[in-house]
Amino acid sequence: MSEVAVDQLTELDALVELKRLAREIASHDIAYHQKDAPRISDAEYDALRRRNEALEARFPKLVRPDSPSKRVGAPVAGGFGKVRHARPMLSLGNAFSDDDVIEFFARVRRFLNLESDAAVEVIAEPKIDGLSVSLRYENGAFTLAATRGDGMTGENITANIRTLPDLPQQLTASNVPDVLEVRGEVYMAKADFLALNERQTAAGAKVFANPRNAAAGSLRQLDTAITASRPLSLFVYAMGEVSGPVGDSQWAFFENLRAWGFQVNPQTRLCRSAEEALAHYRHIGALRSGLDYDIDGMVYKVNRFDWQQRLGFVSRAPRWATAHKYPAEKAETVLNAIDIQVGRTGVLTPVARLEPITVGGVVVSNATLHNEDEIRRLDARVGDHVIIQRAGDVIPQVVEVLIEKRPPHAVAFEFPTQCPVCSSAVVREEGEVARRCSGGLICPAQAVERLKHFVSRNAFDIEGLGGKHIESFWQDGLIRTPADIFRLPDKIKQIEGREGWGEKSIENLFDALQARHNIELPRFIFALGIPQIGQATGRLLARHYGSLANWYAAMDKAQDPDSESYQDLINIDGIGVSMAADILAFFAEEQNRAILDDLDRLLTVQEFVAPDVNASPVAGKTVVFTGTLETLGRSEAKAKAESLGAKVAGTVSKKTDIVIAGPGAGSKLKKAEDLGVRVMTEQEWIELIQD
Ligand code: IVH
Repeated sequence: MSEVAVDQLTELDALVELKRLAREIASHDIAYHQKDAPRISDAEYDALRRRNEALEARFPKLVRPDSPSKRVGAPVAGGFGKVRHARPMLSLGNAFSDDDVIEFFARVRRFLNLESDAAVEVIAEPKIDGLSVSLRYENGAFTLAATRGDGMTGENITANIRTLPDLPQQLTASNVPDVLEVRGEVYMAKADFLALNERQTAAGAKVFANPRNAAAGSLRQLDTAITASRPLSLFVYAMGEVSGPVGDSQWAFFENLRAWGFQVNPQTRLCRSAEEALAHYRHIGALRSGLDYDIDGMVYKVNRFDWQQRLGFVSRAPRWATAHKYPAEKAETVLNAIDIQVGRTGVLTPVARLEPITVGGVVVSNATLHNEDEIRRLDARVGDHVIIQRAGDVIPQVVEVLIEKRPPHAVAFEFPTQCPVCSSAVVREEGEVARRCSGGLICPAQAVERLKHFVSRNAFDIEGLGGKHIESFWQDGLIRTPADIFRLPDKIKQIEGREGWGEKSIENLFDALQARHNIELPRFIFALGIPQIGQATGRLLARHYGSLANWYAAMDKAQDPDSESYQDLINIDGIGVSMAADILAFFAEEQNRAILDDLDRLLTVQEFVAPDVNASPVAGKTVVFTGTLETLGRSEAKAKAESLGAKVAGTVSKKTDIVIAGPGAGSKLKKAEDLGVRVMTEQEWIELIQD
């Protein structure tokens, strides 16, 4: 990450850096959400996001369509029905220091136009490290539960949530609104997690890395009986759609929730100032490792609902709440071995095998060492005592080597110069930290990882065909290329009788394959597994080229760097020279073209149809506020307009669509009248934008 302070950057620097951050964060999102293999710690990831936010705050014009600030969480998976949230399920901004918390209070006051010493009450409650869910009740009856998904659309997990003992099935109190959506966190208590892993080990089944993964794995079961057998718990902390009053403050709402039968975290406190909130943060911090559930911070929420309403949201998070993070938990253990794993794009990742150790209530036996430079920086050697850190849901990392405890004959680690899987030469390209196996598709590790990626959730999403199946089909030569997957029905004889493949599961697999013969272009592009081309970029390419045939033809022409097609490719907003190079390298390779041709013959790749844009009456309009606004504060008015898709400008020109003029408006109002621009009062504007 660039060290240069944000206020020192030129617009051009910012443009370049925002582009790089978008790409980098997207690639970490993929590593985390799709590959379950994060490459950096939560703290490093947060730092990247904060840098992105700071840059965007200073240069709002430069906010990219694929900006990380516009995305939340993991995309929806297949298998469960989809649910569109009545109100989006968003995420939280972060505070990392006391100063950040004090600034949060100050921001709230500024936005609400309060005196700088006005009292602002907040609720402080632990931030549970689990999975957020939305629970819907109609006329008191529990009707629907959904995961967060991408924030707009989640998965229908009603049947699974019904099995939770903490869930009230029927609300009988007289003050429950007809429609009530409650949001909360499903989690697994540490003790339950340890007991579950013991049972899993005894049964020879999968053990989970941490309580959060265990909760996720238990909730995402298509077989409800399995979920029912897992010890899941639930705390609630927010609301979605509600048809009537639920209290006039967060605190009153929590009292109602408790009275209605929900579990609200007992460590929740009403705090009257930043100082009180910080005191509670420290109090819970001291209790943290002894709590029976993982927490990664405290959440502060402005107590008054009318203030929450006015504060509203900014991109992916509410202005009325923030998460104050705790530092990661650490422990000391011994590094027993360093293994090298080969990924989809050939990147060699060193993995530390550790003497198993409990960190924050969880047993850890592996940790990532990221790459060659990291091993050298740490000077990590087999036999060393190391400090590892588990930052919530991220794979643990080695953060420090205790040199003073080093055994006398420990030798420095030599990074392999040959791929441990296919023996091809290992290369390290200029400017890259990663070492890669140069074997491409002849390297079984890369070929298998690419096939796994091809069938994964956000790519072809072929249900019933997991990583283990791909490995075993590959081993036996049933599949070598992506198209072979669609030819599996020709090999039914070789599948029948294999372990785990009964008549029913074969039929399901073939049905799933049949359903995927017709595929959306963005998924198809993402599935190819071109380095750097994630979901967001897949969508950009799909939107730009419209069809597979168009894209293919354009990439042929773009191989010539002097061609118009090349210029066209690098001019796509969100795609730079480096991504373009990876795309073109993919198309230049004969094997990849053969794969594409083969798939093109077997499948129908749909043309890209752009989704509907915002239907608000002011979407796309340029508006100018002038004079004193009496109801809305300046920043509130601006934020609201932008959230409806309007562009807020500072000066009036021919391009202005609406000028909102309050008392005291001067030259801008006059200019608007001269130019014949529509002028309205604040009240008229409020009416226009009301629902
Ligand atoms: S409030 C509109 N309270 O943290 C904001 N979230 O990083 C609603 N979380 O998506 C969220 N404990 O999954 C809230 N006590 C708590 C929480 C909590 C855990 C999770 C939740 C959210 C994420 C944001």
